[in-house]
Amino acid sequence: LNYTEPYRPQYHFSPAENWMNDPSGLLYYNGTYHLFFQYNPGGIEWGNMSWGHATSRDLTHWEERPVALLARGYPNNVTEMYFTGSAVADVNNTSGFGVEGKIPLVAMYTSMYPVSQDLPSGKHVRTEQQSQSIAYSLDEGETWTTYDAENPVIENPPSPYEAEFENFRDPFVFWHDDTQKWIAVTTLASLHKLLIWSSDNLKEWSLASEFGPYNAVGGVWECPNMLQMPIKGHPSAKKWVIVLGLNPGGPPGTVGSGTQYFIGDFNGTTFKADPASIYPDNKSANWMDWGPDFYAATSYNGLPSGDVVQIAWMNNWQYGVMIPTSPWRSAMSVPRQLSLKMVDEKVILLQQPQRSWRSVVNNQTLKHSWKSVSKGSTRLDSPGEAFKIDLSFSDHDCNDSLASTFAIVVRASSDFEQETLIGYNFTSKELFVDRRNSGDVSFDKTFASLYHAPLSAGADKRIKLHIFVDWSSVEVLGGQGEVSLTAQIFPEGNSTEARLVSMDGVTQDVRLQINGMGSAWQ
Ligand code: FRU
Repeated sequence: LNYTEPYRPQYHFSPAENWMNDPSGLLYYNGTYHLFFQYNPGGIEWGNMSWGHATSRDLTHWEERPVALLARGYPNNVTEMYFTGSAVADVNNTSGFGVEGKIPLVAMYTSMYPVSQDLPSGKHVRTEQQSQSIAYSLDEGETWTTYDAENPVIENPPSPYEAEFENFRDPFVFWHDDTQKWIAVTTLASLHKLLIWSSDNLKEWSLASEFGPYNAVGGVWECPNMLQMPIKGHPSAKKWVIVLGLNPGGPPGTVGSGTQYFIGDFNGTTFKADPASIYPDNKSANWMDWGPDFYAATSYNGLPSGDVVQIAWMNNWQYGVMIPTSPWRSAMSVPRQLSLKMVDEKVILLQQPQRSWRSVVNNQTLKHSWKSVSKGSTRLDSPGEAFKIDLSFSDHDCNDSLASTFAIVVRASSDFEQETLIGYNFTSKELFVDRRNSGDVSFDKTFASLYHAPLSAGADKRIKLHIFVDWSSVEVLGGQGEVSLTAQIFPEGNSTEARLVSMDGVTQDVRLQINGMGSAWQ
């Protein structure tokens, strides 16, 4: 594979060519991580929506597989597109799709019908209708058969929401052990509601409950994900989490897509959000990521209970189809291990790169510490184009001699005309990423922006940043991972300089470690 084109991610998944959006069916089965994704087999813009497929043994090195679900009628007469969904291994063969002892993998997705038609199942669908369908694979995800005898298995939104048939999508299905049932969550996108369904066999579904609207309700609600995890330090106290996408309607300071989460309990029927997870009057939200490029996050089915790994689409509908890459468009985030932590009576989400992903981190490190980094600019040795940074420093209240902001500058040209800053504002207590001069920002007028997220010092009074830089992205995890900020950048290939910038004063007790990142494509 020649993954060396300008901006080509070296350790993030991107398809060899063509358009990609949401991860659609993350499934771990028989030692393999499957990644299905929204894919246009025929172009570099959204269209002909199909399910692309890639597999990995370590969530790092991916192999692209043949398209799993090719838009029906592609290329000349597309009558059904396969929108976002999810996948499970039906190990007990509840669906009956398994034959000769083969375990069926079952995908549940949204059928989007561009034209009204009568289906083989005898059902009639209207133009632009979105319904939920299933398909199965008996060869570990390589080839798929749509369940045409009955598809779509959830044809219409329930009463009183019949009018929402064009905004009814993105089923996330999982096995609910306590009730021994399949659960699927779909959105009523324009109403900011989720519908929760249950089933014994993945074929017949009944409505269990609805959830929302709560917290952020800009734009539409899409791509729900639901999962359960223990709370760190309280192993018997498990909580349920709902993650969902908003478009447009992301976090403050962003334009376009965003992702929020809710913590609560789920009894097999109803999801009840913790009071601490809800902000009255939709005044705020639990943001999963404070940057512009983290959307449609979803988690792996098939992992041991409590082990939660998510991948998100590292792009934004605001400018996604205009980013200056070719012959592909869009990459996925680094796979992230999620955990829960109790902070002042409130349960919050933490994110870290998944453990086995670290195989691509080089051992060779650049390590340095400073009692005090002086005011102004401090040059660093060039870390290259793809690397990981661990940076920590003392928090302080600003005064005449202490800095107002402290930042590490990366992917900078030798004259620093081009640069991306990742830093901390000691006055507002915010982490920030400034991509205003990060390289090519010309393709969208909102792209050249500065993004920020609240971040407090740890018990040791230090600010900690973990930063993952690739050829066209920056992911920042703050503290223990309670804050995440993801942003694409499009710097020139030879913009590889770095420096520290301490504004208006000094920054104390700075510790820096930089590791190069290897290519996952060699
Ligand atoms: C979100 C989304 C989904 C839909 C898919 C279509 O990114 O709009 O709601 O299923 O993209 O590609």
